Amino acid sequence: MIAKAALIWFLSATEGYAVGTKFLQKKRGLPVEPFGHRSEQTTKPLFQVLDLKKPTVVEGQCLCPTGQFWNIKEGLCFKKYGAGIGCEAFPPEYQKHICQDGLQCRAENGSNASCVACAHATALSYRMQQQSASLSQGISDRKLSEGLACCGPCSVLRCSASPDHVDWSAHFPFFFECPQDRLQLNTAENPIEYPGVVPDERNGKAGPHQVRFLDVGCGFGGLLMALSPKFPDKLMLGMEIREQVTNYVGKRIQAMRQGAEGEPSHHNVSVIRTNAMKFLPNYFRKGQLEKMFFCFPDPHFKRKNARRRIISYGLLSVYAYVMAPGGLLYHATDVKDLHEWMDTACEEHPLFRRVPPEELEGDACLEAVTAETEEAKRVKNLGRFGHDVYFSVFRRVGPLSDGG
Ligand SMILES: C[S@@+](CC[C@H](N)C(=O)[O-])C[C@H]1O[C@@H](n2cnc3c(N)ncnc32)[C@H](O)[C@@H]1O
Repeated sequence: MIAKAALIWFLSATEGYAVGTKFLQKKRGLPVEPFGHRSEQTTKPLFQVLDLKKPTVVEGQCLCPTGQFWNIKEGLCFKKYGAGIGCEAFPPEYQKHICQDGLQCRAENGSNASCVACAHATALSYRMQQQSASLSQGISDRKLSEGLACCGPCSVLRCSASPDHVDWSAHFPFFFECPQDRLQLNTAENPIEYPGVVPDERNGKAGPHQVRFLDVGCGFGGLLMALSPKFPDKLMLGMEIREQVTNYVGKRIQAMRQGAEGEPSHHNVSVIRTNAMKFLPNYFRKGQLEKMFFCFPDPHFKRKNARRRIISYGLLSVYAYVMAPGGLLYHATDVKDLHEWMDTACEEHPLFRRVPPEELEGDACLEAVTAETEEAKRVKNLGRFGHDVYFSVFRRVGPLSDGG
């Protein structure tokens, strides 16, 4: 048992999870090809996303460690408030995050709200109070019920309400001629404020500067670092869900901008912590992206976790929405089953068509996709124990929408 735990730890610690998971599956007698035969699936409905509603409040991710809450006023994680401390000053929809376990933010006997013991007798009125506040924010009833458990440790992961709320000058100051030292990554250490709609020149609606390349699940940023000098005029963004990894990439970019390796460089790359599977339309406009990269995504071997894969028929409709007609989607992995899964999803989707190999000759991105990311290097370094790297490129085809 200890040896098995050590092996699992070793495989994950060395980031050899792809190899490791497969190995463990074999050991446990689990099928190594868990995805079944996609060709057996029934015909998919044809549809195109024409418009998307963006959620304005984002929940479900812990931005702060357990025992702390995200103080929206200060933009920092704060220790949760103890009994008797006032919480009235926070908007009602945030109040459920503020008090320590066993307490809830509630007004009693006509006084201002403070952290008081959870009282089931008042749960209904508390719920109604939260409900009226939450409905206008678009929080689902299920989320509301979760909020009712006033002891939940999760805080709010900040998110732009729409592309109009994103100030790209904070991410690419060199291009917007407004130098800022402070890193803004949407992490606890380097938070971003999204206080309201940003002037069009800075949110990408007007002016020449818009993000055109997106690295989804950028990990430690190897692809961005490699592509930056190849396309110095293109703004490119990495989206990464892990807090510390995002901080690492942000600091890596900042160091290059400050001339860590000679001349200042990499002004055209940036990174944001977010869940790319959920919030792309909160950051990008219809038809904005020229290239999307999915390099060595997490494989999610188990069939029950298939919905977590970052390329699926449904998500491709969202990717098609934010991609420009003619734009290119690259995917690469060393997991053959996952490659086939991603290929099948793209082939089945009416808004994507495979780019034939002859058209990819001389594609400056392909080399970086298959060799420059940290995962690609890991596979290469496995030497004779290594795997092939599988990749494909698909073109976004068809019009943007009926309305153009
Ligand atoms: C196996 S790593 C690959 C990293 C990098 N692309 C490379 O090739 O080296 C997958 C990365 O995707 C990130 N990730 C997984 N799901 C994500 C999501 N929904 N949104 C953003 N990043 C995600 C993970 O945190 C992880 O860093």
